[in-house]
Amino acid sequence: MARADLLKKLFSGFKTNDRDGFVKTANEIIEDERKKNHGALAEELRMILNKESAFIPKNMTALSAVEVKSNEKEREAPLYEIVYPEKTLSDIVITKDNRQKIERIIREFSNWDVLMCNGVWPTRRVLFYGPPGCGKTVTAGAMAAEIRLPLLYVRFDAIVSSYLGETAGNIRKVFDFANGDSYVMLFDEFDTIARSRYDRYEHGEFKRVVNTFLQQIDNFKGRSLVIAATNFERSLDYAVWRRFDSTLLFDMPDNNERMRLFNLKLKQFKGSESIITEFAIDIENFSHSDVEKAALDVIKQCILEGRRMYTKKDVEQAVTRQKELVSLRKTQYQAEE
Ligand SMILES: Nc1ncnc2c1ncn2[C@@H]1O[C@H](COP(=O)(O)OP(=O)(O)OP(=O)(O)O)[C@@H](O)[C@H]1O
Ligand SMILES: [Mg+2]
Repeated sequence: MARADLLKKLFSGFKTNDRDGFVKTANEIIEDERKKNHGALAEELRMILNKESAFIPKNMTALSAVEVKSNEKEREAPLYEIVYPEKTLSDIVITKDNRQKIERIIREFSNWDVLMCNGVWPTRRVLFYGPPGCGKTVTAGAMAAEIRLPLLYVRFDAIVSSYLGETAGNIRKVFDFANGDSYVMLFDEFDTIARSRYDRYEHGEFKRVVNTFLQQIDNFKGRSLVIAATNFERSLDYAVWRRFDSTLLFDMPDNNERMRLFNLKLKQFKGSESIITEFAIDIENFSHSDVEKAALDVIKQCILEGRRMYTKKDVEQAVTRQKELVSLRKTQYQAEE
């Protein structure tokens, strides 16, 4: 049974037509049930809640979306989405160093009042950088889930407007909105706006945009954790780096991490871990995302054949398929350089 305080919050959210508050509390109840080991009920509630959602963002399959905020003229994509991520830190494989940093950030955030009472800000501006598919976005979501806050996912395709002069205003709007509540804010593919002000190819518009972003981040006093993620860290303006309290590199996984992730993804299925180990060499160029895709391929094969146990052949075929994609990607990347 859900806790009385949560039920009261849920009812008052409904009564006052506070959709955000209602959905936030509903998610807290789901999380509460999950923690009490009422997994089936939690899942059922989650499905009911999501079925009512107006929108599932196309690029956030790992997250469940509940609200989308359009820009004023509604002629372009929404500026941001509010999502309630489901994956937690136990679903991801990260380095010991990053885990320690993340746990520290969560601890500081959870003790916001204690720190502020003593005159110190908690860590609230974090930069995630590193190659594609190594966990920047999913980790930001997992942090929101751990802190039990909605993720305010900022869409750069909408922020960077094709209408000159509008981009800086869009950034302001996002920060203004965030001031009203508490979020984990994710500026994903952040380099879109933060590219070097001194890049000689850049249009003057971007210089203004970077200045606005830096200004906003400096002045922002909201009770939110701001995360910016990029895989083009070298293109970031030097002034951007020093705005962050903490920077985390999400690098390609080592052998041990690839094995752990493969096994983690296959944990619902039976099969020997030694099968995965046999393919260690084959997957040595795989990012976390590649490992996940290969594991999902194995799972699909098992489901299609009505099995709960994976075989060496399943893994071999999945790895071969993903290897082809990885090498194709590498060829394209080299051609572009
Ligand atoms: N460290 C990880 N542990 C578990 N799963 C991961 C990890 N990294 C990535 N994945 C999986 O790979 C997929 C892509 O990850 P994600 O979007 O977080 O990568 P990214 O670093 O943000 O990439 P990009 O730079 O392209 O935005 C997700 O579905 C996620 O579940
Ligand atoms: Mg990402």
